[in-house]
Amino acid sequence: MTDDSLSSHLHELDLSPDPAFTAQANGTAEMYDEAAADHEGFWARQARERVTWAKDFDTTLDWSEAPFAKWFVGGELNVAYNCVDRHVEAGNGDRVAIHFEGEQGDTRTITYADLQREVSKAANALASLGVSTGDRVAVYMPMIPETVFTMLACARLGAPHSVIFGGFSAEALHTRIADAEAKVVVTTDGQWRRGKPAPLKAAVDAAIHHGDDASPVEKVLVVKRTDTEVEWDDERDVWWHDLVEGQPDTHEAAPVDSEHPLFILYTSGTTGKPKGIFHTTGGYLTQAAYTNAVVHDLHPETDVYWCTADVGWVTGHSYIVYGPLANGATQVLYEGTPDSPHQGRWWEIVEKYKVSILYTAPTAIRTFMKWGTDIPAKYDMSSIRVLGSVGEPINPEAWLWYRKHVGGDRAPIVDTWWQTETGAIMISPLPGVTTLEPGSAQRPIPGISAEILDDDGNPFTEAEKVGYLVLTKPWPSMLRGIWGDPERYKETYWSRFGPKYYFAGDGAKYDEKGNIWLLGRVDDVMNVSGHRLSTAEIESALVSHPSVAEAAVVGAADETTGQAVCAFVILRGGATDHGEETVQELRNHVAKEIGPIAKPRQVMIVQELPKTRSGKIMRRLLKDVAENREVGDVTTLADSSVMNLIKQGMSSGSD
Ligand code: WT7
Repeated sequence: MTDDSLSSHLHELDLSPDPAFTAQANGTAEMYDEAAADHEGFWARQARERVTWAKDFDTTLDWSEAPFAKWFVGGELNVAYNCVDRHVEAGNGDRVAIHFEGEQGDTRTITYADLQREVSKAANALASLGVSTGDRVAVYMPMIPETVFTMLACARLGAPHSVIFGGFSAEALHTRIADAEAKVVVTTDGQWRRGKPAPLKAAVDAAIHHGDDASPVEKVLVVKRTDTEVEWDDERDVWWHDLVEGQPDTHEAAPVDSEHPLFILYTSGTTGKPKGIFHTTGGYLTQAAYTNAVVHDLHPETDVYWCTADVGWVTGHSYIVYGPLANGATQVLYEGTPDSPHQGRWWEIVEKYKVSILYTAPTAIRTFMKWGTDIPAKYDMSSIRVLGSVGEPINPEAWLWYRKHVGGDRAPIVDTWWQTETGAIMISPLPGVTTLEPGSAQRPIPGISAEILDDDGNPFTEAEKVGYLVLTKPWPSMLRGIWGDPERYKETYWSRFGPKYYFAGDGAKYDEKGNIWLLGRVDDVMNVSGHRLSTAEIESALVSHPSVAEAAVVGAADETTGQAVCAFVILRGGATDHGEETVQELRNHVAKEIGPIAKPRQVMIVQELPKTRSGKIMRRLLKDVAENREVGDVTTLADSSVMNLIKQGMSSGSD
């Protein structure tokens, strides 16, 4: 579609809420006024209505030690009780919690009563391995029910989990296990990838036996998933089927303090060292449940909900495990990839389970667009009533495709902006309330306040002027810090415009209707397929290769993945450039050091890198090269001829 026909098509669409939808929607226009009139009162009400407290809280928000927040102070609760037991106690034990769809076509139906038994057994098993309140448990698993059982079992014991995405390498796993000092790791023998088993436990073994460092890991609990052969340490390793299956299927969930840590989740920042973002209990659960109810418009008695994210990312934490289960949802959990065994697999799943709410990422939608409209057209998707998008800006073209070919030209799309740090959705339309604007996340949800600041830190509201997105009031599911590094927390989020404003790292603007448009990161963070990667982390992986002297990495625009990793590399004096072979070797080296998601799309071997007189690499100029643009202003370069050299060298050595 050309830009012209796209804009005329947009113009013809009526994207105001359908009154029939509005009549049943969980979100209301009044919520905005209510929250604006009494911010804390609004959140206190959400906390009491959506969460069951073992002991009620006495103070909604303690911000006296800002930027370290305490929410629902004095309250006590157990997250697993809220996500599982209370639904059984309310008589909904027979409701399906999880429709599991394995990549191989195997399925499993898990009711809330089943979930209660499974989570209890897993909690008893972890306790028998010595896990108690406050101990950290690393989870390195594919998308299978045991992963959900494990996370909830940890929550049940008050033992913070640190889920590490199964696509991360042994090296990445090692750093994260060491930083969190995890005592137990839960993993599987292998994982199914496009019809084939890929080993997983092997990376755990390598992460534990890393150099000379003593590992904090005492026990490794292993689910048999693929029958992949594994090495076994009799002292340390335990099979899930040996230990968990024999456990009692009841377990008393002990309430913890509202501010007790629930999980740590590592994410990339502007330095090479990943940040352990940590979230606590009462505030996190409140906002996860609230947003899943009002933004996804979840009606647990009638909806079938499906979030396609991996549990290794925050989206899987908040919108597979904690939000939907706290709300008593029935959901689909799918192990595999969208094209396994065929490109219609997702739509087949939608048809089979009558999925009514689908939450996915723009990169997936753009992939489906490439595969063609005839694929979704083969399936009955009339059950769909709400669509969601997350991870990066959704371009209007993908938005329209999603609406038409998945949403039957009727389902509202919620474009949800948030971050690992925010814990839950922050900026999004409310379905049934908001008149939609394709490409824009629109406005902060009720209870959330945001502004856009100029370079001097002053808020403005003019349309089309580009500035920095900040959050202006604490929110319940906000991160409570960076694990073990409170200074870095203050420095990263509360110093650029602080101490009043949380700086998200995103550029943003308003349109003339007052909608917020997110414009991507303004720091050295890339967004590849909705996954956050830091330029510094990939650069340090590259320079760890014996042939590399220096590296600079940029995120270049990519039609499918949003951004793609492009690396510029200077080889060491003694190293020879073997062209394509060297390029492949360096790409594979990054995949090994960090994981396949970080593998550069392109590696360009260059003689020089563009630097300012103070030695800072000018990534902006490299980005121009990677995106095939005219190179911008080079006047601040120490040596202005460098860019010509790089451009000349571009014809060779690229992928
Ligand atoms: C960054 C956070 C939130 C879970 C997935 C990513 C970008 C996220 C949107 C959106 C525009 C978005 C931002 C943000 N982002 N959602 N709807 N529109 N940009 O979590 O890895 O913590 O990354 O993703 O740049 O800062 P994350």
